[in-house]
Amino acid sequence: MKIGICSDHAGLEYKSKLISYLLGKGYEVVNFGTDSCDSCDYPDFAHPLANAIEAGECELGIAICGTGNGMAITLNHHRGIRAGLAWNNAIGALVKEHNNANVLVLPARFISYRMAVSIVRTWLTTEFAGGRHQRRIDKITEC
Ligand code: RB5
Repeated sequence: MKIGICSDHAGLEYKSKLISYLLGKGYEVVNFGTDSCDSCDYPDFAHPLANAIEAGECELGIAICGTGNGMAITLNHHRGIRAGLAWNNAIGALVKEHNNANVLVLPARFISYRMAVSIVRTWLTTEFAGGRHQRRIDKITEC
């Protein structure tokens, strides 16, 4: 499985640690930046990640910024992306089980790294439930 990952400056530290974690678990990882702690703009990294998922170059993505909201709002402008913000394991599970999120978004300034990696593990190992949840997902783009 190939996972794309991106962050802004606020998520850089967690991104670096998560890349090591994911590589250690045998995932292929594509890093879409940022790779500097200089202040930067989250859309510059969210759009390339979203484009790669929509093009089938990565199956899933992880995006990290301070609150998670900038990344989530940007990513969800892409029709092929369902980006879900999670700050605990229960939400990390439900965002896959119910929403089939193909990008997990983490709020680095509001959770510990220990929680971040736990959420990633939960999200990656939870299956989409399908059924009524697929029907609801099918309606998301009806606008
Ligand atoms: C950066 O200061 C911060 O605004 C950003 O990481 C994110 O929280 C935006 O939604």
